[in-house]
Amino acid sequence: MSIAQKELVIIRSKSLSVIVPTYNESKNIVGILDSLRKHLPIGTDTEIIVVDDDSPDGTGNIVEEYAKNSKKENTQSVQIIHRKTERGLSSAILTGIKYAKGDAVVVMDGDFSHPPQTIPKMIEELQKSECDIVVASRYVNGGSVKGWPFRRKIISKGATKIARHGLGIKIKDPMSGFFAFKRNIINNIKFDAIGYKILLEILVKARGVKVKEIPYEFINRKEGSSKLDTSIAIDYVKSLWKLYRYGKTIREKEKRVSVRFLSKAGRFYTVGASGLLVNYLVSFLFGVVLSNLWYIYATMIGIVFSMTSNFILNKVWTFEDRDFNLKKTLRQYGLFLGFSGIGAIFQIFMIYILVETRHMNYSIALFVAVVIASVGNFILNKRWTFQEKVWS
Ligand code: GDD
Ligand code: MN
Repeated sequence: MSIAQKELVIIRSKSLSVIVPTYNESKNIVGILDSLRKHLPIGTDTEIIVVDDDSPDGTGNIVEEYAKNSKKENTQSVQIIHRKTERGLSSAILTGIKYAKGDAVVVMDGDFSHPPQTIPKMIEELQKSECDIVVASRYVNGGSVKGWPFRRKIISKGATKIARHGLGIKIKDPMSGFFAFKRNIINNIKFDAIGYKILLEILVKARGVKVKEIPYEFINRKEGSSKLDTSIAIDYVKSLWKLYRYGKTIREKEKRVSVRFLSKAGRFYTVGASGLLVNYLVSFLFGVVLSNLWYIYATMIGIVFSMTSNFILNKVWTFEDRDFNLKKTLRQYGLFLGFSGIGAIFQIFMIYILVETRHMNYSIALFVAVVIASVGNFILNKRWTFQEKVWS
């Protein structure tokens, strides 16, 4: 099947909107529109939406004229949205998406960095492989960047690395400005739309979608200039942080109760183990290294230190309570110490019973008592000291 035939199939089954955000692209935009119309499937189901932010160089008017003429010629529809007050690449793209009637949406730059020839392949992939987002990628096999200075290449790679690792994104080029997606996957997303990285926001917020990358060659613009400046770089950091926070809350929410419970129990026992070490080291320090304190005193100091460090670690880490209100904290500390005491007494009592009345082997009795006492300790502290539901 030739490309042309495939495109015909696409027109019949689905409609397509291509969104081109522009700011001062007067030297590029006519060429882009011509090229798009040449390479896109011809038919009424395809619309090109240019979103212009009142460009001082008159890009908006040029497109306005172009749209009128193309209507006369009755080819694909070209529409122009003039934004008078709003600004910004991501928000322009969102405006375009809002107006888009297609089931599939393509987003591309208006400066020839993104070759329109790639679009049919993207749409084909969107249908063929049943994925939800197709990203035209510079960083998969076969993709590349042409004409960028070394500095910009490094910055782009670095920013990409940060996004991939920081946000747990698997694809190679999450910063791409060239992508296609099924419109309905973003219906429930609340966008921040800060700066340039709208795709990143979609990747983080559209849960469970399938993404595919196909290679293309990014060609640096020949006309006009990039609008990526320091303030957009700052926006990038802002949006990364917001997306990171967002992902964290979602991950927490999605964790099953059993996982959350076990993870807290795990932390509680880790803290307990760290207490042994603190206990030993502090006692050793006071009893042997620093002074010739009576060894019983040294041991007591060790115990106080380890109980305190256990309390603080459990408060901050295990139960994630960062409220250090003095009265509240002291009350918690008291309860924590109290439960430890109760646990110790219970443990002794239990071992005594098991060994004396059940004639259990001491080592087994010890084990049983330690397990029961420490589980009890965890639950009591969870419920009363840190005021959580037991099963949460
Ligand atoms: N409406 C509108 N409003 N359009 C804008 C604005 C804006 O505030 N800022 C930029 N644009 C348009 C430009 O006219 C161009 O068509 C497109 O958005 C991309 O802007 P450039 O300034 O050319 O971006 P770039 O080439 O530096 O960055 C591109 O490549 C990056 C890959 O590293 C973009 O595609 C980025 O999204 C992409 O991450
Ligand atoms: Mn560009």
